[in-house]
Amino acid sequence: MSKTYYVWPLGCQTNKSDGERVATVLEKLGYERVEDEHDANVIAVIACAIRQSAVDRIYGKFRAWEQRQQAGDLTTLLTGCVLPHDKQKLTPKFDLVFDIEELPKLPLLLAQTNVEETVNLRDQMAYFDIQPIHNSKFRAWVPIAKGCDKFCTYCAVPYTRGRERSRPSADIIQEVKELIAKGYKDIHLLGQNVNSYGMDKRRADGTSEELTFAQLLETVATLPGDFWVRFHAPHPRDFTADVIEVIAKYPKLCKQINLPAQSGSSTILRRMNRPYTREQYLKLTDDIKAGIPNVSLSTDIIVGFCGETEEEFADSKSLMEYVGYDMAFIAQYSVRPGTVAARRFEDNVSHEVKKERFRELTDVLEQTFMVNQQPRLGTVDTILVEKYAKDHWLGRNQHQVTVEFPAPADANLVGTFQQVKLEEVEPFRFKGNLK
Ligand code: SAH
Ligand code: SF4
Ligand code: F3S
Repeated sequence: MSKTYYVWPLGCQTNKSDGERVATVLEKLGYERVEDEHDANVIAVIACAIRQSAVDRIYGKFRAWEQRQQAGDLTTLLTGCVLPHDKQKLTPKFDLVFDIEELPKLPLLLAQTNVEETVNLRDQMAYFDIQPIHNSKFRAWVPIAKGCDKFCTYCAVPYTRGRERSRPSADIIQEVKELIAKGYKDIHLLGQNVNSYGMDKRRADGTSEELTFAQLLETVATLPGDFWVRFHAPHPRDFTADVIEVIAKYPKLCKQINLPAQSGSSTILRRMNRPYTREQYLKLTDDIKAGIPNVSLSTDIIVGFCGETEEEFADSKSLMEYVGYDMAFIAQYSVRPGTVAARRFEDNVSHEVKKERFRELTDVLEQTFMVNQQPRLGTVDTILVEKYAKDHWLGRNQHQVTVEFPAPADANLVGTFQQVKLEEVEPFRFKGNLK
């Protein structure tokens, strides 16, 4: 039988990055990647627990998979973010469930489940030493920390990813150097709270055996080469002035920051266990705008959190209007079993009201996006080109805004930086021409 695999990462970039490492291990075992899950003998699901809809997408696959599993044609693996509540229900449906930290042991686990006959134990590696097989030739995700200690009351991540642990900076820098040498142009540093990097390595006297986040950014930004660096996700509480200074100083650090607000209401923020007020968040965005010229801000925001009143929602709306984001990841609150919010508060904002609030914030976002882009019209911007689709080329500027422009289909531009004059704008994309 042929050995083929398909990796299905749901959720955030962390999962996409983990999926690339799962692919590495499967390829070491002789599996070949396929682009369609129907052609795969092994399907590896990298699950996301952030919202019920992400979990439901997995349930939606079972009927089709079961027939193939029974016919002995398919092995299914489950890893990634799974809440204990779902684990019970999902486990019987999969051939193998493993914690992503156990990835180095995957060959052994497959042998124990009789999927693989033998394994060479000497091939085992530490998780971070598994070199990912990158899906892109120009964009790469580099994990700098794992887990989360913040325990926002709505959030599943602390229960699925465990405690916060920083990866040694020497390893991060080595991985980035290798990526640059291979021609990677867009390096994304990843963690649930990237800017608390190194804090877990603090000694009792307050010193740390690790770099601070600002020092790590500076080290990466001063490596030679032609590339961009960005990071996800910073936490507003730990966003220190030295990080603002470093971003302003180095051209390789993109002037784009996703700063999750989650709500614009101080009372909701308190219920969410987000340790800042509306005023502190707004002051931080003012400081960022003052310190980093031409900065582009985006955010994550939740509508319809337990007990969110019209006034509290209006605070989120006015926060978005005040800050003027270029992008926002607006989520309708979804109860996560086992979280503090699920135990303590009632999910009492109706589905319709959540939808309406989502729509209202989307309208605000469109307006702030359009206002922000006006001064950029007519300027020439550097675009990292991603693909050719439907008669034009598509790329993104350092603000992550999509830019489309015409050029011959065979121009071979993927993964190159191009100078493009921005000539028209519509919600969430520019149209322009090569300079
Ligand atoms: N660590 C990051 C984000 C992690 S999760 C941070 O602190 O901002 C990604 C986003 O999913 C969150 O920013 C939040 O907006 C959203 N999210 C998390 N839990 C959610 C829930 N229960 N319902 C709806 N959206 C949620
Ligand atoms: Fe979830 Fe909050 Fe941690 Fe972000 S900081 S991963 S929202 S608990
Ligand atoms: Fe990411 Fe979802 Fe896990 S958003 S960290 S994959 S719960």
